[in-house]
Amino acid sequence: MRIAVVGSGYVGLVAGACFAELGHSVVLVDNDEEKLAALRAGRVPIHERFLPELLERHRGKRIEFSGDLQAATREGDAVFIAVGTPPTDTGDADLSYVESVAREISGAINGYKVIIEKSTVPVYTSHWIRTVILRNGAPASHFDVASNPEFLREGTAVVDFLYPDRVVVGVESERCAEVLRAIYAPMADGSYYERSDAIPRPDRAQVPPRLIVTSTQSAELIKHASNAFLAMKISFANAVASICESVGANVQQVCEGIGTDSRIGPRFLNPGIGYGGSCFPKDLMAFRAVAKESGYDFRLLDEVIRINEEQRQRFLRKVRSVLWTLRGKRLGVLGLAFKGGTDDIRESPALLLVQELLREACQICAYDPAAAERAKEVLKGGVQFARDAYEAAAGADALLILTEWEEFAALDLDRLRGLLKYPIVLDGRNLYDPAVMAQHGLSYYSVGRPAVDTVHEAGARLGNRRTP
Ligand code: UGA
Repeated sequence: MRIAVVGSGYVGLVAGACFAELGHSVVLVDNDEEKLAALRAGRVPIHERFLPELLERHRGKRIEFSGDLQAATREGDAVFIAVGTPPTDTGDADLSYVESVAREISGAINGYKVIIEKSTVPVYTSHWIRTVILRNGAPASHFDVASNPEFLREGTAVVDFLYPDRVVVGVESERCAEVLRAIYAPMADGSYYERSDAIPRPDRAQVPPRLIVTSTQSAELIKHASNAFLAMKISFANAVASICESVGANVQQVCEGIGTDSRIGPRFLNPGIGYGGSCFPKDLMAFRAVAKESGYDFRLLDEVIRINEEQRQRFLRKVRSVLWTLRGKRLGVLGLAFKGGTDDIRESPALLLVQELLREACQICAYDPAAAERAKEVLKGGVQFARDAYEAAAGADALLILTEWEEFAALDLDRLRGLLKYPIVLDGRNLYDPAVMAQHGLSYYSVGRPAVDTVHEAGARLGNRRTP
């Protein structure tokens, strides 16, 4: 199939590269000439595993980059809209980019085309895209509008795209459904997974994935409801972690006990410093706004958001309770990205915490394997950047782990203890076993698990009076 993908952000770039990987001919359209030039020159603007390989494999063969949306529409069988839908002040999604793409497409509809929304959008967006295209003169018989929400996570986007739990397509006609079935056929019939050069299958993946065909409204709601449910799981785990801290239980054990119930499932039950990123915070606000507009006051979502905000404050209070005063304290910080495996710092709880610690006049030396450059632009010289985790820890009053990068879970703990001024680790992502930290002589404070306090334990062994 000939596919145009409009917007070369995370979703558009990954979708375009993966459609080419499935054997389609793809034109990736963007109005940012600099970005197009970089992509044509082989540069990849985002840190995403397997994306450079796929772009390299298909560039100039099955994938082209263009600034001409109308030409790409005329030549395509399907046009995916993957432009940004940023939040407005009221929390609604700003759909003006989607609208302007729809307007531009309408003049180039020269035969039957399927226009597919891939950006995360509120319910009824496909209806509005259709209306805009009709108002701008395209005949109704020449196009259909479909919704094909994306469930990929940053950092594992390519694998999530090619090995999804399901593919959801929301359609209003059988003709349109056929086009989408053809696009996803190599995945749905399993033929892609038999290729020797296929992107390696992750452990958990079930192939072939299920193709779920729904109405467009249902598909639009599936996306918002999925993200809201996942965020709710995280906030639930965070709330349970707070109770665990009060009663001396271990949230890891509790979540394992909950998550082994197959009706609940173990994933997305990791407590921490709260969720961030460009999706959950924005989508929850948008879903809440959608619900309100439809006459439903979705207060559960307010609570999910409140718990998430509170989680950062709780961690800050923990830092204070361990270090007493903060002014002038030197802190090593591991992680600035909103999660591991990405250079994205949008709505990063790690970055927000660093900014709060800077307001408290802490001195920060930070390390992130991928997000440092982006963080530097935001932090504007207020933070010192280290070349690795050990440099960040050197001479610090305490080390803070704020992003769940895999490499942060495999540090040489003896080396770390030797480098820190005081052997204190505050882990906002629960990457270590408290017992292991204790064995290495580190005081260790994580989320929802008993603390390890080497100073007071040593004091208690010597019969000293415990300080509060
Ligand atoms: C999320 C969804 O997981 C994807 O399915 C969806 O397609 C995407 O949003 C989107 O709407 O485009 P993403 O934001 O890339 O993906 O990242 P996640 O892996 O979901 O993590 C989101 C945040 O939750 C991160 O800050 C992460 O650290 C945090 N998190 C995640 C937890 O605190 N605990 C967990 O157990 C899981």
